[in-house]
Amino acid sequence: MKQIILEDKIAIVTGAAQGIGRGIALMLAEAGVKVAVVDISDKVNEVSKTISDQGFSGLALKCDEADFEQVQRTTETVLSEFGKVDILVNNAGIYPFKPFVDMTEEDWDRLMARSQLDLVCIRHKPTRFTGQESLLWSLHTCV
Ligand SMILES: NC(=O)c1ccc[n+]([C@@H]2O[C@H](COP(=O)([O-])OP(=O)(O)OC[C@H]3O[C@@H](n4cnc5c(N)ncnc54)[C@H](O)[C@@H]3O)[C@@H](O)[C@H]2O)c1
Repeated sequence: MKQIILEDKIAIVTGAAQGIGRGIALMLAEAGVKVAVVDISDKVNEVSKTISDQGFSGLALKCDEADFEQVQRTTETVLSEFGKVDILVNNAGIYPFKPFVDMTEEDWDRLMARSQLDLVCIRHKPTRFTGQESLLWSLHTCV
C-alpha cells in the first residue's frame, strides 16, 4: 500500500471545534500537518491553542459553512496563509435526531446548506487547491 507523508502538508478540517473534527485536527497536527481548524463555534480558538501549546501549527477560523461568502473568505485566508491545501476534511455537520418524515423544510435546508465548503474546494482544485497528493475526506456528503 502507498504511504502518504503527512509532515508539512496543509489541511482544512471543518467542524473542528469538538467531537470527531477536533480529534482529526489534533491527530493531523501531531503528524506534522499545518491545520486550519474551521467551525461556526468560538471553540475553534481553544482547539488551535491546544495545537500551538503542543508545539504544532494550527490556525483557527470561525466560519458558517452555510454562508457562501464566509466560506469563500475562509478558503482565501487559508490559501494566503499557507499557499495551498493538501487535505480537506469535510466534517462539519448537523444531524437532526428525528425521523426523516418529521423533518421540516427548515431542517432540510440547514442540513443541505452546510456543504458549501465542499463546492468551493472543488472549484479551487484545478488551481491552487491541490498539492502533489491531495486528500478529500467527507464524513457525510457525497462530493
Ligand atoms: N457521531 C456519529 O455517530 C456520526 C455518525 C455518522 C456521521 N457523523 C457525521 O460526522 C460529523 C461529525 O460528527 P460529530 O459527532 O463529531 O458532531 P458534533 O456535533 O460533535 O460536531 C459537529 C461540529 O460541526 C460544527 N458545525 C455545525 N454546523 C456548522 C456550520 N454551518 N458551519 C461550521 N461548522 C458547523 C459544530 O459547531 C460542531 O463543532 C458530522 O458531519 C456528523 O453528521 C457522525
